[in-house]
Amino acid sequence: MERIHIYKQGNPFRPLILLLHGTGGDEKSLLDMAARIDKDAGILSLRGEVNEDGLNRHFKRLSLGVFDEVDLHKRTSDLEQFLDFAANKYGFPRHQIVGLGYSNGANLLASHLFKYPKSVQGAILLHPLSAGTIDKIPDLFGLPIFIGVGEEDPICPQEMTQKLFLQLHKTGANVTLSWHQFGHNLSTEEIQKASTWYQSFFK
Ligand code: MLT
Repeated sequence: MERIHIYKQGNPFRPLILLLHGTGGDEKSLLDMAARIDKDAGILSLRGEVNEDGLNRHFKRLSLGVFDEVDLHKRTSDLEQFLDFAANKYGFPRHQIVGLGYSNGANLLASHLFKYPKSVQGAILLHPLSAGTIDKIPDLFGLPIFIGVGEEDPICPQEMTQKLFLQLHKTGANVTLSWHQFGHNLSTEEIQKASTWYQSFFK
């Protein structure tokens, strides 16, 4: 189950941060951000395996903001299998993972939270749009989740983020919704807020 990724061993008493880049990114895109959030954490960063006109993505889409649900379902299950494979290969505890996804990567991570509820110990969703079709609301009681949203984000309309927030809220997760006055790009302020949130749960 090999795929292109970066693994960096960290302090075994810190979380392992799973990085899922946005459309057009790669496994290196979020490394600096992860280091700003927790320089001692291990890193597992995956390159999306879908190629959309030369841009890496984690799952296919039919048009802007319209997911290919069959592909999303398959890629969500592939992610879970890869996490098991990587934990076995590198020898990190499976419960150590905190997910961090941006845009397309945040959408895959959101889908994964609903389908594999016990898989991560926390999640940072930066500019997510949706988790795709949800078959049932799992029990995510107490799971810390940070959602970063841009008030002027043209790709993620506020109603969609609010819907995702409510869906996650229904699971019992401890969800923090953090609004920023910018668009789809990540701002220093947002990364700082995500970092402060992370430290309050994982330090
Ligand atoms: C998606 O397709 O996952 C979202 O529209 C975000 C993006 O453009 O990557």
